[in-house]
Amino acid sequence: MAQLWGGRFTKETDRLAYRFNASIYFDKRFWEKDLEGSIAHALMLAGQGILTEEERDAIVRGLEGIREDVKEGRLEITDEYEDIHSFVETNLIDRIGDAGKKLHTGRSRNDQVALDMRLYVRQEILEIDGLLKAFLETLDGLMEAHLETYMPGFTHLQKAQPVTLAHHLGAYFEMFKRDRQRMKDIYRRMNYCPLGAGALAGTTYPLDRFETASMLGFEGPTLNSMDSVSDRDYVIELLSALSTVMMHLSRLSEEVILWNSNEYGFVEIDDAYSTGSSIMPQKKNPDIAELTRGKTGRVYGALVSVLTVMKGLPLAYDKDMQEDKEVTFDAIDTVKSCLTLFNGMMKTMRFHKERMEKSAANGFTNATDAADYLVGKGVPFRDAHGIIGSLVLYCIDRKKAIDELSLAELKEISPAFEEDIYEAVSLKTCVEKRLTLGAPGTEAMKKVIALNRKYLEEEE
Ligand code: ARG
Repeated sequence: MAQLWGGRFTKETDRLAYRFNASIYFDKRFWEKDLEGSIAHALMLAGQGILTEEERDAIVRGLEGIREDVKEGRLEITDEYEDIHSFVETNLIDRIGDAGKKLHTGRSRNDQVALDMRLYVRQEILEIDGLLKAFLETLDGLMEAHLETYMPGFTHLQKAQPVTLAHHLGAYFEMFKRDRQRMKDIYRRMNYCPLGAGALAGTTYPLDRFETASMLGFEGPTLNSMDSVSDRDYVIELLSALSTVMMHLSRLSEEVILWNSNEYGFVEIDDAYSTGSSIMPQKKNPDIAELTRGKTGRVYGALVSVLTVMKGLPLAYDKDMQEDKEVTFDAIDTVKSCLTLFNGMMKTMRFHKERMEKSAANGFTNATDAADYLVGKGVPFRDAHGIIGSLVLYCIDRKKAIDELSLAELKEISPAFEEDIYEAVSLKTCVEKRLTLGAPGTEAMKKVIALNRKYLEEEE
């Protein structure tokens, strides 16, 4: 058991209690962050005359040596340490002796872990943002390629009006774009350095908190030491944003699963992203989409966990907060793998255009346009709605689409119908006449795609 305390104890910790308390099993993940923060702290201490230049150099060399050795596999982070902070400090003292004992001057593990977690989360936010961007680029490419791939648009999972695949995927483009904006907002709000808060009440050493904040790439130091060691708002914000990413992915998952079903037959998932059945040879299953839909649960779980951990905690640091890590790490890993795999799956998916178009052409997706046609001929909309309702009923009885009826049959239902009805309710017209910004008509979509491109270029 390697721990950083014990002077006021007369007995050893119970083994199970020690294990229960230790966090090395998971906080070893941010070993590099702990070294980075420690180097900055040592440099600042020397700058303030708290360490000598020799001490500073020995500490920095020692910490860099640890970094190299861990990286190269010469030094293993084992469970014998209580946490990553103990691992670093114990190893430093082993290497450089007494100077190593001075590193922790003016610092507590409370502000140290607050810093490590922030450094780690900050980096992950950028990585997730990059994955979201890559996915947006894939969606953008698909939109460009499928401006005229017609498909039914649904409400209540009933065919409603025809749209295009570009338009449908464009809806997801907007969602994931907002997800990126959330990442950037969180980053901006959290990017303040808690180092120097000490255990909870700052320190009597003349630390330069602006200096460490700037060395570590923060906007500045945090402004209240008690808040600094006990704030996990940014973790909650991130988990909330990640839950929203998963919610979006799970909706797209559900659609991919439906589209891939025999009944829809809109898509074929590439072999590289689907799996077979051990018993049914014909099967090709959409497991990536199903797993993504399923994993949404654990990311929501992480959010609820941390919200609950933090609820009612008195100021300042409480050990409860150690529970923020495992679930957050898991949520981050989950979102990253889902985004990566989803991107690959979508990029390689084949769309059965004819089948999608055929599906859009039946199911009376042009009924609204037929009503609008009558409005154009002077029929009030409410009356037109009723007329087309009975027309649909007439078609259902005869198993025909509106545009399969003869003009004589149509005229029987309303004398306002004329030869131009066929053109007016054709699938192409129904889509292409929808030209309000944000609508599926090709010209409207092209404007949106141009805006999306600009966004992708500008938002690094
Ligand atoms: N492992 C702890 C955590 O994750 C580090 C801080 C420990 N502080 C303490 N006073 N025991 O929160």
